[in-house]
Formats: sequence, structure tokens, C-alpha cells
Amino acid sequence: MASAGPVPALEERAAACADRLRDADEVLLASHIDADGLTSAAIASRALERAGIPFETVFSKQLDADEIASIAATDYETVLFTDFGSGQLDLIADHERAGEFTPVVADHHQPADADTEFHLNPLLFDIDGSSELSGAGAAYVLARALEPDGTDNRDLAALAVVGAVGDMQTTDGELVGANQSIVSEGVEAGVVETATDLTLYGKQTRPLPKLLEYASDAYIPGITNDESGALRFLDGLDVDLRDGDGEWRCWVDLNEDERSTVSNALLQRAVSRGVSSDRIEGLVGTSYVLTAEPEGTELRDVSEFSTLLNATARYERADVGLAVCLGNRDGALDCAQKLLANHRRNLSEGLRFVEREGVTREENLQWFHAGDEIRETIVGIVAGMAVGSDGIERGTPIVAFAEKTDDSDDGEVTEVKVSSRGTPALTRRGLDLSVVMREASQAVGGDGGGHNVAAGATVPKGTEEEFVERADELVGEQLG
Ligand code: C5P
Ligand code: C5P
Ligand code: C5P
Ligand code: ZN
Repeated sequence: MASAGPVPALEERAAACADRLRDADEVLLASHIDADGLTSAAIASRALERAGIPFETVFSKQLDADEIASIAATDYETVLFTDFGSGQLDLIADHERAGEFTPVVADHHQPADADTEFHLNPLLFDIDGSSELSGAGAAYVLARALEPDGTDNRDLAALAVVGAVGDMQTTDGELVGANQSIVSEGVEAGVVETATDLTLYGKQTRPLPKLLEYASDAYIPGITNDESGALRFLDGLDVDLRDGDGEWRCWVDLNEDERSTVSNALLQRAVSRGVSSDRIEGLVGTSYVLTAEPEGTELRDVSEFSTLLNATARYERADVGLAVCLGNRDGALDCAQKLLANHRRNLSEGLRFVEREGVTREENLQWFHAGDEIRETIVGIVAGMAVGSDGIERGTPIVAFAEKTDDSDDGEVTEVKVSSRGTPALTRRGLDLSVVMREASQAVGGDGGGHNVAAGATVPKGTEEEFVERADELVGEQLG
């Protein structure tokens, strides 16, 4: 990957991993159930298929000891882990030593204290795994190394960009580092287009009033969360933003002039209402458009695409998300869109729950317990979206608990999922939530990990208070 910048060591490792995969009779591909995990699996499966390597795909919510043991119990001699594996490398290495399988790991999470030969992780090569390369990015680097002579896997860059944006890897509105190199390859291959544009979520599919009303990341008084305010704002502009039938158009339906009329008025409104300059700058950023996807669908805009994928995999329908990624759209896209409507409802109900119940402030963090009110697979997304609303400070890490649904017969809840979110400003001051989650959970008999800015854990039910106390201390030490 010539344009990935000066990281030949990463490509060398990818080449070694690719050689190992080519030697396998058959590969088990195991991946994580979120947007980055799905796109990782889609990239890896396309690359394996093009290289003529037979494989089978499985997904998992969390790669823990049991999950790895069940993978080890299969007949596969080679297992390719994508978007997880590094954090569980100690457990995986035990099975490798026992001769149960050879692992190939393409991940971007903080590695556990163990090593293995075929470990492709940006963090091993001085590349930031939470802002410079995602799981899908690592899978893409591997896919480039797997290319048979005379073929080109650069079209897979489109999915890698969806994975990176889905993991919220943008810095000041754009992808940077190795992610940016992948964007460039996607542009060269004709599958990605970039532009400077409003950063609002929903440019492809939300009618203008809804686009503005729901733009909570960029809170503009009198417009955000204000249905009639958003309508009055649009009606007051000197352009007709409805279609021939009198229906509001979407952002993508507007021409250059119309777009600049709306964005200029929006920026002026933000300035006149005293929105901070930081937030105003945040209204504009780089947009990534997938040119091969149909206009006016979630698939064309990478952030809408990634949300669509979360709406499948986080609801036990990874098969649907994977089919959408692989272009097998018969029925899958419809199904994904239905799941998306459900996901949106859950996110907004979750947000309302947090806004209603509020958070508890400790010295160095704030937390809430959702009980069974928010699904454990989306409580982290809700926690991230809640930051900045009334009473939930931006400058303080947030920790969220949700009961894990039990798969066993009696249905008794014995475990609690923890999600935590910080900000880049906090990580610059020393915050590393992956360490906080791992150490605080291990102190109460659980386990966890993730990234400096976003991490998670599982703890035994009943240990939440002790966990908060320990996490609060750890955050204090990191920031102190
Ligand atoms: O497995 P893992 O990499 O999937 O999870 C990434 C999660 O971390 C995403 O859900 C994303 O919302 C969150 N994240 C974040 N802010 C960042 C980076 C990641 O909230 N800067
Ligand atoms: O679901 P996902 O983690 O991909 O969401 C990323 C961001 O997209 C959220 O933090 C939120 O700001 C925005 N979003 C939204 N409306 C939705 C889903 C996501 O505004 N229905
Ligand atoms: O689930 P959530 O979105 O909060 O996860 C945030 C990050 O923490 C993800 O990257 C996820 O893979 C990681 N995580 C982990 N171990 C856990 C739970 C989450 O490494 N037990
Ligand atoms: Zn990831």
C-alpha cells in the first residue's frame, strides 16, 4: 500500500499474514458485531474469495474465553480474527500453544500482554488505533497483501472508510493518517469521493427539516430539537427547498447554490445565537461519498452506511449487514432499513432515558445505570450521544451500565455490560479508558478493554459501585 505513508513494517506484517492464509486449506473468519467489524469481515471475505482461499464466517458480540474455546473446538486450523483478537491475545496464544489453531489477527484494539507471529495491529507500528486505522483499515491492508498478481483490491477502500467513520475515527471532521491514505486509494479506484460539506447526519435520506432538527451534535438554538423552529428557518430562506409535489427535499437533492444558501444562513444563525467557535467549526468537515452506491440511500453516505450496519449486527442480524456490504442486496437492504428504524427508535428512547434520569457525578467521572432500559449492545452509542446534553458534561468521561441479557435457561441476569466514552482533549491529558476498563473490571472479577477514548467491560452484577470507585481512582491518577 504505497500511499499508506512510511509504514513498510505494517505492510511486511500484512504480507506475512497473507502468506499464512494462502497456506491454509480453509479459514475460519471471526469478526465483531458492529459497523467496523462487519466491514472488516466484508473486506476480508472478498479478499479471501478473490485469492481463492475457502472460508467460513462467524460473528461474536464479545470475544471472551468461552467464545475462543468454542472456536478452538472447531476443525479449522487457521482462524482469521478481524476487529478483535488483540485484546484477547493472551487467551488466543494459549490455544495456539496447545496446537488447536494458528491465529491471524487484523485488529486495532489495545493488545493484551502476549504475542503471536501473525498479528497485524497499527498500535504495533506507532499508528494510533483509535484515530489512524480501524479494524476495517487493518483488514484492508491485509486485503491489499492478498491480491493475486494483476488484480486490484483498492475498491475495498470504500468499506474501510465506512468502518473508520463507524468507529468515530475522524479528527476535526476528517480522516487522518493511514485512514486518509486509504481514502486516497479509494478516490484513485473511483469508489470514494470527498468534499467539504456540512457534517450533519442524514444528508442522503433525511428531508431538510429533519436533517436540521436532529442535528444534535451541532446544537443550534431555535433549530436543533425544535421542529417548528427548523421549519421557520427553512421557510425564511430565499430559495424554494421543496420538490414539485411540495415535499421537502434532502440535502443531496440541492444544487450548489441552494446548499450554500442553507449553510451560510445556518452558520450565521449559529454565530448570532452565540454558539462557540469550536462548535461552529464542527458544522463543516469532509464528507465521504461512495460513488458506486445508489443516490438517496444510506449506502451512499459513509456515516449513514455505518449506522445502518450497527442497526443490523447489534441486533443479532450480522448476516443482513454483511450481505449489504457484499452487495447481495436482494431483500437484505429492505431488511436493514427496517432494522434501522428500530435502531433509531431505541437510540432516541435511550437518550430520553438518560436525559430524564441524569448522571451521577463522581470526582473524576460521571455515570448512569440503564438497568434493562437500554440494550447492552447500544448503551455505548447512547452514552456517547448523551454527552453534551443538559447536565452531562463534555469534559468528563462518562461510564454507562446495562444488564446483559442472559442466554441461559433461567434468564437470571448475572453480568453487567459497561461502556465508557471520553474525548480527544481528555486523551491528550492522559486519559486511557482501555486501561481504566480493564483494571477496574479485573478488580471486581470481570474483564474489559478497547481504546483510550472509548472502551468497555463486563462485570458481575452487584459490583457496579465498587467498579465505579476503582474507575474513578484510575481516571484521577491518569488525569492528575
Ligand atoms: O469495537 P470498537 O472499536 O468497536 O468500538 C468503537 C466504538 O467506540 C464506536 O461505537 C464508537 O462510537 C466509539 N468511539 C468513540 N469516539 C472515538 C472513537 C470510538 O465514541 N473517538
Ligand atoms: O450509530 P452510530 O454509532 O454509527 O452513530 C454515529 C453518530 O451518528 C451518533 O453519535 C449520532 O450523532 C449520529 N446518529 C444520528 N441519528 C441516528 C443514528 C446516529 O444522529 N439515528
Ligand atoms: O461496547 P462499546 O461500544 O462500549 O465498546 C467500546 C470499545 O470497547 C469497543 O472497541 C469494544 O470492542 C471495546 N470493548 C472491549 N471489551 C469489552 C467491551 C468492549 O474491548 N468487554
Ligand atoms: Zn473497530
